[in-house]
Amino acid sequence: MSYLFPTYARWDVTPVKAKGAYLTAKDGKEYLDFTSGISVCNLGHAPENVKKAVEEQLELFWHTSNLFQIELQEKVAKQLTKASGLDLVFFGNSGAEANEAAIKLARKATTRTKIITFIDSFHGRTFATMSATGQDKIKTGFGPMLETFEYVKMNDINALKTALDANTAAIMFEVIQGEGGINEGQADFLKEAEKLAHENGSLIIIDEIQTGIGRTGKAFAFQHIGLDPDIVSVAKGIASGFPLGAIIGKAHLSEAFSAGSHGSTFGGNPVALAAAKETLETIFAESFLADVTKKGEKLHSLLQETLKDTPIFKKIKGKGLMVGIELTEEAGPFITKAREQNLLILTAGTHVIRLLPPLNVTDEEIEKAVKILGDLLKG
Ligand SMILES: Cc1ncc(COP(=O)(O)O)c(C=O)c1O
Repeated sequence: MSYLFPTYARWDVTPVKAKGAYLTAKDGKEYLDFTSGISVCNLGHAPENVKKAVEEQLELFWHTSNLFQIELQEKVAKQLTKASGLDLVFFGNSGAEANEAAIKLARKATTRTKIITFIDSFHGRTFATMSATGQDKIKTGFGPMLETFEYVKMNDINALKTALDANTAAIMFEVIQGEGGINEGQADFLKEAEKLAHENGSLIIIDEIQTGIGRTGKAFAFQHIGLDPDIVSVAKGIASGFPLGAIIGKAHLSEAFSAGSHGSTFGGNPVALAAAKETLETIFAESFLADVTKKGEKLHSLLQETLKDTPIFKKIKGKGLMVGIELTEEAGPFITKAREQNLLILTAGTHVIRLLPPLNVTDEEIEKAVKILGDLLKG
């Protein structure tokens, strides 16, 4: 019997140890992990440099409160602003909290209430971020959603034009929808959406919680398109598995987040920040990001080559090391079968296999995973 609420359909794997791209279970099985804790352990499990930074911080102090000057917050905020081209950071503990902060900030700064999001998006499980999410299955049974949000089809500029009005505080989106199926926003659509928003006095909020921190081969996915967001939300990969989330915003929004307007007891915890500082120093290096692009190209092309004549294979989606394999049938059963072959992978939407290997995955690990997937999907 379990003492946990059954909110997750858990796998029959009990981890006891994990290092790099490999995870060892209690029964002795060793898995090649192409989930990275759902885009969190981007440097693989327990990277030595991050571990050392955390150990050093543990010797110093663990928690004070945000009433103190926390030097590590300034240092990590500088890394995030430098990498994104934005100006100011607020730290929380998770993706949903980051999006909550983004929603609150956009509403207060614009004094408007409506936020447009996209169908099939995923923005979190708190009440506002669940309401923001464009998927009914996330909301079932929870009663009326917040009325703040209006959902439009991604890549449909006319639908967006119809929804955008004088009460629109922001348009909020993922550049590539992760949970929704590795669905890419088209560059010309997103650019036009941004132009329309800014002409209308509305803000652009980009949810980089899954796509950010190097996952797509750039620090942030919006940089592939040259967008100019007002607020970017990040979490997941920011601290290699320690709980941390953040929004990065433009300086002109500062007044709306004045003292006492928003907060978090644990947000910006020094131990999580020690992990973040080291993680970001590694990932935001140009040569590291170039390598992610190279590895991503290898994974995409090897999958394409291996699967091209497989009847159930439709196409490869995504960017960098955020990869979707779209099938003509449901992806779920293949996740279980891959696990039986010691490969950990995920679904995205219903018909897409999602691969999120660590960003420092080796060529050999890529080849091993593709071989297992090829054999599975060919039947
Ligand atoms: C794009 C996106 N936004 C928000 C979230 C929510 O993040 P968290 O689970 O840390 O609250 C997720 C989590 O999967 C996500 O992928």
